[in-house]
Amino acid sequence: MLILGLNMFHADASAAIVLDGEVKFAVAEERLNRRKHFGGFPALAIKACLDAVGARISDVDHVAVGQDSDANLAKKVQYALANPAKILNFIRLRQRKESMRDVRLLIAKALEVDPAHLRFQEHHLEHHIAHIASAYYCSPWEKTAGFSYDGSGDFVSTMTARCEGNQIEVLDRVFLPHSLGSLYTMICEFIGYTKYGDEGKVMGLAPYGRDTYCNEVNKIVKLDGEGFRLDLSYFKPLGSNQGMQVSPDGTVKLARHFSDLMVKLHGEPRQPHTEITQRDMDLAFALQHRFEEVFLHLLNQLHRRAPLENLAMAGGCALNSVANGKIFDRTPFRNTYIQPAAGDEGLAIGAALHTYHSALGQPRRHELKSSYLGPEFSDSRIQGALQSAGLVFQKMHRTALLDAVAEEIAGGNVIGWFQGRMEWGPRALGNRSIVAHPGLPDMKDILNARIKHREWFRPFAPSILAEYQHEYFEHGHPSPFMLHVYKIRPEKRKELCAVNHADDTGRLQTVTRDENPLYYDLISAFRRKTGIPVVLNTSFNENEPIVCTPEEAIDCFQRTRMDVLAIGPFLVVKNPQPSEGRIVASSEVSKA
Ligand SMILES: [Fe+2]
Repeated sequence: MLILGLNMFHADASAAIVLDGEVKFAVAEERLNRRKHFGGFPALAIKACLDAVGARISDVDHVAVGQDSDANLAKKVQYALANPAKILNFIRLRQRKESMRDVRLLIAKALEVDPAHLRFQEHHLEHHIAHIASAYYCSPWEKTAGFSYDGSGDFVSTMTARCEGNQIEVLDRVFLPHSLGSLYTMICEFIGYTKYGDEGKVMGLAPYGRDTYCNEVNKIVKLDGEGFRLDLSYFKPLGSNQGMQVSPDGTVKLARHFSDLMVKLHGEPRQPHTEITQRDMDLAFALQHRFEEVFLHLLNQLHRRAPLENLAMAGGCALNSVANGKIFDRTPFRNTYIQPAAGDEGLAIGAALHTYHSALGQPRRHELKSSYLGPEFSDSRIQGALQSAGLVFQKMHRTALLDAVAEEIAGGNVIGWFQGRMEWGPRALGNRSIVAHPGLPDMKDILNARIKHREWFRPFAPSILAEYQHEYFEHGHPSPFMLHVYKIRPEKRKELCAVNHADDTGRLQTVTRDENPLYYDLISAFRRKTGIPVVLNTSFNENEPIVCTPEEAIDCFQRTRMDVLAIGPFLVVKNPQPSEGRIVASSEVSKA
């Protein structure tokens, strides 16, 4: 049975293909059309899914969409009636959503086929159920609590559930305008981070702040018995015409969230790209602090209703890896499964798996252990791309390549590491990564100056061999998808100085040989040379979506000051200088 899952006309549009209950391939449209957070129709992703399994669209049995404009309709109408100024926009939005509902026509047009030849059944699933489904059905558990939170989806910001067997039982919803995602976005915008997806930057800024505004920010969101409520006087009116908007060309934009009350209390908002002041850092600190308090309150409430050890979680806010790292100390949950594509691209997997298991009653068999669900490229394609670019390269055996790259990392060089299938989700996890030495004091500045050009306060992340986690971090819970932040042990902070954040934490990726043998062996080779079982890992890109194809990787390598590119079995060294101890040739190396 072939099921195509879609997230469309929503930020991070994506497609996933599920064959007999197993996710075979999944990709966000932005990686293929190179438009970050693209929110239109995922035509290229659909084609890539079909190509990956050798199918035609006429072979697809079901198409599932992680959006249902009829969900929570009574709440939407109730809100619109209570806010008459919003009614016209509400009607317009409904009309636009209706025009998008004809999935059959949209797919037929994108693939240039006759809609009469499409035999699939169509399913629409409420946004947050799709988020929870994306985590639960990919988890190893038969019974778990489910949690999803984000800015908004189908008029809901937060959902709790009990998941058992094939079914997801919704326990509670928090409806708009009350939203932790909106709270985060509002303060991000006020301190000058106005783009969709900037929340992660502010999470990195928070440790530089002080406890100046905590009392003030605490007032913006109040806890109640089952959930939370925002004080709406701090916000521009939320609802059907506010928040995130997707323009007809798929560009995702944020409307202004903060009200004049924020200006009255805190002065003028910071303009993007101007100096960050202590006020901005203190607001980021207070925001992250309150966000964590409310999040952990919600999880504790959920545990009372679903008293289980396991938690399956997704939604854009589930990318807040600092909050995730506190789950084990401050709630009774002992295990987490957080979908690697916790944001809205993950809806494609959730909708498809929910259709398979819940709607069609098929048994669960497949745990999603790795995020390597995207495109891969043959050695001959890579070699052709290198030749077209006019690069001098060496083809190497596996052991020689690993040894050469480990030697380059140990020597302080910056490596583009392009291998195997692209990761699903926003994190580079060792297949489309830039890797470097984690223990050189100036490595963060080198990476920023030469390649990444990121804000000074944003940390770089460590990838660690899983069996060394206890030795280096104060928590032992696995973090395979780089979605937990833990304290680095005091005696290891100097050794990991390039990935040790201002609050002595690291957003780690625990690497096992089962999940990524080549990356595991690379880190092992680096450990043999340096004694450090960790490499610095950042995404392979420069102010663009993470590279997908060999051509994009080569282009990024050439236009930045990366030292080395290891792409498939090929090694390219930029400006080789043997006197500095580089590996330039060996008997195992064949020059092309
Ligand atoms: Fe979402």
